Amino acid sequence: MPAAKTFYVTTPIYYVNDAPHIGHAYTTIASDAFKRYKRMQGFDARLTTGTDEHGQKIERSAKKAGKSPQAFTDTVAEEFANTWKNFVFGIDYFQRTTSPQHAEMVQELYRRCKANGFIYKSSYTGYYSVVQEAFVQDAKEGDIDPESGQPLELVTEENCFFKLSAFTDWLIELNSDPSFLQPETRRNEVLAFLKQEGGLKDLSISRTTIKWGIPVPDEPGHVFYVWFDALTTYMSAVAGTNLWPADLHMIGKEITRFHAIYWPAFLKAADWPLPKRIFAHGWLLFDNNKMSKSRGNIVRPEPIRQAMGADALRYYLLREIIFGSDGNFAFDALVTRYNADLANGLGNLASRTLTMIHQYRQGAVSLDGEASPLPVSETISAAIDAYERLDFSRALEAIWNLIGAADKYIVEQAPWKLAKDPALADQLDAVLRNVYNVLRVVTVLAAPVMPDSCARIWKLLGMTTALEDERLGALEEGAGAASRQIPPVEPVFPRLDMKTIIAQLD
Ligand code: MSP
Repeated sequence: MPAAKTFYVTTPIYYVNDAPHIGHAYTTIASDAFKRYKRMQGFDARLTTGTDEHGQKIERSAKKAGKSPQAFTDTVAEEFANTWKNFVFGIDYFQRTTSPQHAEMVQELYRRCKANGFIYKSSYTGYYSVVQEAFVQDAKEGDIDPESGQPLELVTEENCFFKLSAFTDWLIELNSDPSFLQPETRRNEVLAFLKQEGGLKDLSISRTTIKWGIPVPDEPGHVFYVWFDALTTYMSAVAGTNLWPADLHMIGKEITRFHAIYWPAFLKAADWPLPKRIFAHGWLLFDNNKMSKSRGNIVRPEPIRQAMGADALRYYLLREIIFGSDGNFAFDALVTRYNADLANGLGNLASRTLTMIHQYRQGAVSLDGEASPLPVSETISAAIDAYERLDFSRALEAIWNLIGAADKYIVEQAPWKLAKDPALADQLDAVLRNVYNVLRVVTVLAAPVMPDSCARIWKLLGMTTALEDERLGALEEGAGAASRQIPPVEPVFPRLDMKTIIAQLD
């Protein structure tokens, strides 16, 4: 068999000045769900995440915690890695920017940019935002950094510069392609920025005021600007594999400019291949503000997992918020969704169907027969279509509509009545088969979003194969057997009491 085509997805690498919160989890979960979707389409799909550990902000956080930068970043990086073990069940590559392999690649990127004539030295004075790790263009004395509320700092440095200005026209062309940067709103913002009068200014890519960074080759005292360092992670994480160029960089909307402007320019200057697609999603808000350490409105993912399971959060985040837009996070909405869609929706359909198969057919469901009257093929195409566009909420909506249709079908067909009349045995078999088939299809389609719970339902359906090896393209071909014997029924999503859970989480 020919080797499967690779599909490489990345999350941003997260700053280690704070422990993981559900904003970070949101991006990582969405990236993992998309990777799983691609895998179920037959790709050899891989995911990279990691931690962004250099720079002044981290240096200051370490100091505050009374630790060396390395000791500080070791602790937080481990916390991120552990969180993803629980929410993503298998990150393929976790890259820390403090790893030697990463430093080598950053230096190599620089050397290539320099050899191709895109690096020069000059002094620079400007207003610098420590939080954004960037000089703020057109700022003046007394200006406040909107992110931190702190005044901007006036900094003069002898820096290595990257000739970003040489790439303005090329970047306009690149970002004019709608398949490169999505959604449309972000692309329009980037294009407006690129088309501003005078084009792009050159970018300072080294710092002499900071020690905590990767040394610039042949420039004693200079370390790399954090974004030159951080973006290169996407390549260093998969050095030695054939995964680069990335098929998708998943990011939050606030870092679009770095990904759609700086990163392609660095790569072009180095004569390295460009990523194929960037998707910038919206912000998760809490009490209608962006969740952030400085605002103190942070929600952590781990207590939610302990109370409801990782899949409950995965489902809620991808179902409730239109991917690409901002959305509010609320505990009561999380519990309401869980009870309505998971406990009463999917969970109830599974337990009621499987219980009937035991009750009326001793656990054996026969799978050969006429086509189902339920909208199965329509659901499969709608869900695949939506997943492909990263429209997770639409994909899930289509899947849950099928669950609703199956519930209605059971009520209409009333199998408990059919079971009373032996002359209606064929009809009863057809109902059980059709609902079982819906469950099979729904379980496979929802698996990218809820891998753990769907794998449990898969077993309850009597399947012995690994769910993640199922292929979406083969879904309509049926269950792969003339009949199936199912094991005893077990609940997958126990109903939760709102008050108890909220008390546990608040
Ligand atoms: N280290 C940089 C990224 C470098 S990538 C080469 C950085 N890190 S970060 O920790 O601040 O957060 C990065 C990402 O976390 C955001 O782009 C976004 O994907 C995710 N989120 C952090 N807070 C979030 C919300 N409140 N809502 C949605 N996503 C959030 O920037």
